[in-house]
Amino acid sequence: MPKRILVTGGTGYIGSHTVVELQQAGYEVVIIDNLSNSNADVLEGIPRITGKRPLFDKLDCTDFEAMKALFKKYPFDGIIHFAASKAVGESVEKPLIYYRNNLVSLVNLLELMPQYNVKGIVFSSSCTVYGEPDKNPIDENAPVKPATSPYGNTKQINEEIIRDFVHSGAPIKSIILRYFNPIGAHPSAEIGELPLGVPQNLVPYITQTGIGIRQQLSVFGDDYDTPDGSCIRDFINVVDLAKAHVIAIERMLEKKSDEKVEIFNLGTGIGLSVLELIKVFEKVSGKPLNYKIVGRREGDIEQIWAQPDKANNVLGWKAEETIEETMASAWKWQQRLREKGAM
Ligand code: UD1
Repeated sequence: MPKRILVTGGTGYIGSHTVVELQQAGYEVVIIDNLSNSNADVLEGIPRITGKRPLFDKLDCTDFEAMKALFKKYPFDGIIHFAASKAVGESVEKPLIYYRNNLVSLVNLLELMPQYNVKGIVFSSSCTVYGEPDKNPIDENAPVKPATSPYGNTKQINEEIIRDFVHSGAPIKSIILRYFNPIGAHPSAEIGELPLGVPQNLVPYITQTGIGIRQQLSVFGDDYDTPDGSCIRDFINVVDLAKAHVIAIERMLEKKSDEKVEIFNLGTGIGLSVLELIKVFEKVSGKPLNYKIVGRREGDIEQIWAQPDKANNVLGWKAEETIEETMASAWKWQQRLREKGAM
């Protein structure tokens, strides 16, 4: 019998790529998503890659009774919890929506896990918990800094909720994955990032500008204390990132560690500036990108990149794709969307 994994937020960007890797590793996947920030079309894209259609229920994780019914319907071996609101700016304007969505969802899952004998949960966290690091690269022992947005705060609080629950003796394990900046798409271009409206994140803005949906990219600041003055990030390929989730699930289900809560940074270990990333895009797309330098974006971190040694050595996971391959995959996906008339 294949092990069955519940993937919340499984029609979203990172979730859908993880579903593909789980299926390819032999897991049966049940996706739940409220489709508030994703599209059910991805349920067609996934089987075009894997040959298997994941089970899907349109469900909101904050709805405790509906979640309970789901746990009754399916025995799950493990959970990967992606479902969350993630727009930093919106979280400042509508904090309660963020606290309700992101905190209640996790509390519901944790409450149901022991009742239905589900032993492990992988939690989707972010390097945002480190704030502006004192030094780079940054490892998992670096201090968690006060959050600069309600969104960031929900990631920190959720990490604490998991630790407190496990500490109370709950019979579960958890692996917390702190992502750096996930970008790119599946190399098949069957699935990828689908931002609704104007993209807030850099790479979808770049590819949409490249294809003509947006006129010009604004680069937020070139007066930072970095070699070229633009911000530095650790851009991690989304398929590489997805593979780390499969390893994390296996690690929990096969009890490869005695630790009840483990935290891993998921990044490449390489810091790349915004302007350097634009150059990579121009190289792989073969066309110049229309951009201009504007003022800094409020709340941006100057520079952050991962020390991924713990994930490399303990999980046996490593980012493999080059930045050129990754940007080429993002570009191919953008072109595919154009062909399909989706954008
Ligand atoms: C942000 C959040 C992070 C969250 C992630 C996922 C912060 C500090 N970080 O990451 O917590 O997990 O989004 O959504 O809010 N940029 C431009 N022009 C653009 C867009 C971005 O120059 O049009 C620059 C930004 O200033 C930044 C870099 O590109 O320096 C990356 O931005 P973005 O893709 O939004 O990611 P983060 O801000 O790093």
